[in-house]
Amino acid sequence: MSGMVKTELANVNKCDSARMKTLIEGPFSNSRQCTREEIEHIKTWLKYHQNDMIQHVLDAKCNPFNVKAYHLLIDMLTDSGTHRTWQKQAEFLRMWEMLFKDCETFAYAGSPARELLNETISRIFGEQFYFHLTVQGRAAEFLLLNGLQANGLMPKGSVVLTNHGFDTTCGHIKAVGCKVIACSPVTTPQRVASMPDSVFFGNLSISELRKQLDSNEGNVSAVLLTLTDNGGGGQPVSMANIKAVTKEAHDRGIPLWIDGCRIAENAAYIKAYEPGYSDRSLQDIIAETMSECEFSTTSFKKIYSHSGGGIFLNKDSPLLQAKMGAVRKSVMELTTVVYGMGFETGYCGRTGRDMVEIVSGLLYAMDPENVANRIGQVREVSDTLAGHGFPHVAGGNALYTASEQVLSNVPLEYAPAEYLQAIMLAATGVRGCALGNRLYGEWRQNGHGWELVRPSEMDSLRAAVMRLGNSTPMLILGLEPMAIAHEQGYLKPLTQGLEVIDYETSGFNHFKAIYEVRDVVEFKKAVGLVNEIFNESARNL
Ligand code: F0G
Repeated sequence: MSGMVKTELANVNKCDSARMKTLIEGPFSNSRQCTREEIEHIKTWLKYHQNDMIQHVLDAKCNPFNVKAYHLLIDMLTDSGTHRTWQKQAEFLRMWEMLFKDCETFAYAGSPARELLNETISRIFGEQFYFHLTVQGRAAEFLLLNGLQANGLMPKGSVVLTNHGFDTTCGHIKAVGCKVIACSPVTTPQRVASMPDSVFFGNLSISELRKQLDSNEGNVSAVLLTLTDNGGGGQPVSMANIKAVTKEAHDRGIPLWIDGCRIAENAAYIKAYEPGYSDRSLQDIIAETMSECEFSTTSFKKIYSHSGGGIFLNKDSPLLQAKMGAVRKSVMELTTVVYGMGFETGYCGRTGRDMVEIVSGLLYAMDPENVANRIGQVREVSDTLAGHGFPHVAGGNALYTASEQVLSNVPLEYAPAEYLQAIMLAATGVRGCALGNRLYGEWRQNGHGWELVRPSEMDSLRAAVMRLGNSTPMLILGLEPMAIAHEQGYLKPLTQGLEVIDYETSGFNHFKAIYEVRDVVEFKKAVGLVNEIFNESARNL
C-alpha cells in the first residue's frame, strides 16, 4: 500500500509560483459557451421551474435550506460534499477495487481501506498526529471540544480567539459554554481595493491578537486559525502569519487550533504568492502548517471528498502531552458511545469505499494545478462581476457579495443579504447562502423582534463554487444578471427587505431561520427586472 500512496503523490503536476499565478489570475479564455448538457438544463429550468421560483422562495420562508435542490438552475449553497470526481481520482478508485475486490467484505477492524487512509493522512499531514476519523467537520468540532472540556483544557466561560470561526465551529464553541472573538475584520471589497498588492487577507491581526490576549489573560483556551478564512471571505493565511500567531499563543502557553478544511487551497496560495515556497509541494506546505498546531479539525467534504472529517492531535506538543491520553480516551468514548459511530479505530461510521474516496480526493488535491484551477474559476467569474462594478470579494472557494452595498437602502435589520439571496434565487434559480450579520453580527431579541446590536463589517452573500461542478460560462450566466441589475440601478431603490421572524442564536442559525418578505410587490418587481436580464442572456445561448 505504501507504494500506491507514495507513487501517486510523487506523480502530481510540478508547477512553480509563476504557473500557479497564471492558473489563478488568468489570462482566462473568456468563453461564454456553456456545455451542451448545461444548455439543456437551462432550457428545462426555464420551461418547468422559472415561473414557480417566487412561490418556492416564499414557501421556503426565504431560507435557502428549505428550497428543493431540483428546482434550482445552479446550486451555490456550499462547496461541501458537492463535487464532481477528478478523472484521476476515479481511476484510483477503480484500481483499488481491482486490487481489493469486494472491499466491503473486509470487517472494519484492520481493514485495508483504513490502513490506506491512515497512511495517506500521515504522509500528507505529518507523522506526529493521532488521527481520529469523524463523519464530517462539525462532528470533529463537537468531539474535540467536548474531549478538551472534559479534561480541563477548554473550561466553560473561556475564550477562543480566531481570524473567523465558521458557523458550525462558532456554534460548537458556544455549545460548550465558551466565547469566540474574531481578531480580524471580514474582508470587504474596500479592504481588498485599499491593499492591491496583498493576498493574505485571512491573516489574523497580530496587534488585535495581543490586545485580546492581554484583556482576556488567563482565560484564553485556544487560538483558532481557519485556513482559508471561509466565513471572513474565503481568504488565505500566509505561513508567516501562521508562525507569528503560533508564537504569540505558545509564548503564553495557549494551544493553536487549525481548522484545516481548506488547507490544500491555503497551501496553494502560499505556493503561488509567499516568497520561498514556489518550489515546495502542497504536501510539504501542509505538513509545515500542521506542525505548528496542537490540534486540528477538518472536513474532507470540501475539495477532497463527499464525506468524512477528522481530528488531529499533535503527539509532539508539550502543551498537550500531559493530557493527551485522557483527551483521546474522551474523544473515543464520545465517538463510540455518545455519537454511536462505531469502533473508533475502524470505520467510525464510514464504509471502506468512503475511506478510499477520501484518500483519492486527498491525493489529487495535492496536485497544485487541480487546486489552483478552482481558485482561478472563482477569479474568472469575479472579474466579470467586477466589470459591472458589483461589490464583492473573490475567495478561494466562493464569491462573497457585500449585500449591504448592493441594497444600500435596506436597513441592516431587514437582512439585505438574505433579501438579495431571495431575489437571486427567485429570479435566476441560483442558490447561495448569507454569511453576514446572521453569522457575525450581534443580535438581541427585544419586545418587537430581533435587534442588531453590532453589525459585521459586511452583510455577506456567499456563492460557493464546487469543484468541477459547472463551467465558468454557466456560473457567469447565473450570477451576472444580479451584477447587471446593480449596474443599471435596479436594486438600489429597494427599501423593504425581510422581517426576521425567527432564527437560532445557538450558532446553527442558518438551518432554522425564517423570514417574511416585507413588501411582496417590491420583491416581485425586483425579481422581474433581474429575470428579464437573465432571460435575455439565456436567449442568446
Ligand atoms: N470549518 C469550516 C471552515 C467550514 O467551512 C465547514 C463547513 C466546517 C468547519 C464544517 O464542516 O460541513 O463537514 O461539517 N463548511 C460548509 C460550507 C458547510 O458551506 O462552507 P462539515
